[in-house]
Amino acid sequence: MPGPRGGAAAAGRSVGFPANGPVIPGSHRCRGGRVVAVRCEALFCTPLWSSQHPDPVLLQGLATTVLSLEAADPAGIQRTNQGGWHSPVTLLDQPQFAGLFHWIAAEALGAFEAWGWDLNQALPCFHNAWAMVNRKGSSTRAHLHPNSFFSGVCYLQVPAGSGAIAFLDPRSGAQMLQPPMRSDARGDHSGRVVQHPYPGLLLLFPSWLWHEVEPSSCQEPRICISFNLGLRPVKTRPADSGGTATEGPMVGSPAAWAVGGGKPGPAT
Ligand SMILES: [Fe+2]
Repeated sequence: MPGPRGGAAAAGRSVGFPANGPVIPGSHRCRGGRVVAVRCEALFCTPLWSSQHPDPVLLQGLATTVLSLEAADPAGIQRTNQGGWHSPVTLLDQPQFAGLFHWIAAEALGAFEAWGWDLNQALPCFHNAWAMVNRKGSSTRAHLHPNSFFSGVCYLQVPAGSGAIAFLDPRSGAQMLQPPMRSDARGDHSGRVVQHPYPGLLLLFPSWLWHEVEPSSCQEPRICISFNLGLRPVKTRPADSGGTATEGPMVGSPAAWAVGGGKPGPAT
C-alpha cells in the first residue's frame, strides 16, 4: 500500500540497521545488570545550527545602533512580539549591519553545504531582517516564519534573565509519547527544547520550526537581529547581482544576496 509520500517507489534514503552499524547512543546497562545494544536511528531530524560571532566590540556597536533606531521610531511594528520593540523588516538596507550579514551568510553557507545542500544548483538568499529589543516583561509568542526556508537570530546583547528561546516539537502526534523520563534523558526527547542565548550566538533553523521567547525579568535590554532566508536557483541568478551562473556560492555583500530572492516572506 502506498505510503503518504508514494510508498516504496518514492525516492528517499533507505533506513539502515546494519549488523555492524553504529550503536546510538550506545549500549545500555539495564536494571539487573543486563546489557542491551538496541540501535536507534533519528529519522527526519530537525537541524538547529549554532555559531559564535568572534567580535564583541562589533556586536556592542550594533547594539548601540539598534537602540538609536528604537529611539527614532519608538512604536516600531507589531508582529509576534509581546511588549518588545520590533524594528521594520528593512535591516538589510542599513549599511551598518552589512558586516554582520556577511558573516551570517558565510556561516549559513557552511552549515548548508555540510548538510548536503548542492550549492551549485541553488543558493540561499536573504528575504528580510529586523531587530528586536526586549525589556522586563517582554516576550515573543510561539510562531514560525511563513514563506521562508530558513530563519535565524544573532544575539547582540543578552543581560542575565532576559529570556531564553524555546523550540517546540513540530511533529504532529509526537506528543502521544510522554512516558516518565529520567533527569538525564536527552532534552529533545521532550516537546520543548530551551536554548539560553549569550552575546554573539547565532542560531539557524528551518522556518517551519515553532519557537517562542520567554519573558524577560530584567530592565536592561536584550537585543538581537533576526532574519529570514529563501532559496533561488543558480540559473535564474540575475546578472546584476555580481556573478554568473557558473560562479560558485556567493558570500559577498548582503545586498547581492538579497537580490532576486523572490517575494519576501512576512517577518514574524
Ligand atoms: Fe522567530
